Amino acid sequence: MTQSDDIILGASPGNIASAAAMIRDGKQVAFSTETVYGLGADATNDEAIAGIFEAKGRPSFNPLIVHFTNTAQVANVVDFSETATVLGEAFWPGALTLVLKRKIDCPVSLLASAGLETLAVRVPSHPLAHEFLKQARAPVAAPSANRSGQISPTTAEHVFESLGDKVDAILDGGPCAVGLESTVIDLSSDTPTLLRPGGIAREEIEAVIGPLEVSDGSDDAPRSPGMLSRHYAPSIPIRLNADKANDGEAFLAFGVGTDAADVNLSQSGDLVEAAANLFAMLRMLDQTKYNGIAVMKIPDSGLGIAINDRLERAATS
Ligand code: TXA
Ligand code: MG
Repeated sequence: MTQSDDIILGASPGNIASAAAMIRDGKQVAFSTETVYGLGADATNDEAIAGIFEAKGRPSFNPLIVHFTNTAQVANVVDFSETATVLGEAFWPGALTLVLKRKIDCPVSLLASAGLETLAVRVPSHPLAHEFLKQARAPVAAPSANRSGQISPTTAEHVFESLGDKVDAILDGGPCAVGLESTVIDLSSDTPTLLRPGGIAREEIEAVIGPLEVSDGSDDAPRSPGMLSRHYAPSIPIRLNADKANDGEAFLAFGVGTDAADVNLSQSGDLVEAAANLFAMLRMLDQTKYNGIAVMKIPDSGLGIAINDRLERAATS
């Protein structure tokens, strides 16, 4: 069995440096923030992000929050609006997450956005998180560091109990001062909308930018399928469990023995690789001459459950 001593790293400069190096190597590292512990991976690395979903055992790909050291870095990857500037000045670094439109050339993995045109971004205030992000030299995507369906962890020991054998390291910055997830505000449409109440009170935010709309459609544990207010769907129809493409259809294959495939999610039948490729390949096929996408059957186990969840949503919308 994995011992907690092997995985939990105290906040020494050497440990921060090695945890940051693990991120650059595409590994999954849990780290403390002022809100709750996050399960981090290089946000620009599709396979590293797929590893997060695998570790959490989530039955679907919810979009993740991406963490940065400062506002200037955030503004490199999303369209940073005037309202975002005002909120960033008021509450960053801190327990506020903003959902903004991805820039056209946004380097962050589409899997981290669950295929959406938007990205959730945050600059945390915890000094350990800050130093770790700085040394990782990459934006770090991190959902709360718990298995799906469990509550968010606020100590390194909680993370170990929930995910112990699934993470490469847990960077221990002590108990979280806020202890509640960040407040999530969607600024990607005309009216700023509260998607999730959290560490910064609604009134505090309204004091700065005026009234917020409220949505209950973007919980990280949707009470029923389809409750997430938005999800990615291509503009052309998707046909599931296909053996081959019909005339005019693109073929999205999975596994060996599919030479005629236009595109293969994973030649070797690896579900982590398939998850990493899913949104980028769907989007790519959507932008070509095809009038539909035929997708081979994906096994309904492990990350295949989340892949099939997203494919079914895309096929029925
Ligand atoms: O305090 C926190 O926010 C922690 C720390 C680690 O930063 N993270 C966290 O992540 O709670 P997670 O994945 O457990 O929750 C992320 C929330 C979910 O409700 C998700 O639906 C929403 O943010 N979200 C992320 N990206 C979104 C997007 N593009 N559009 C709408 N909602 C989004
Ligand atoms: Mg969570």
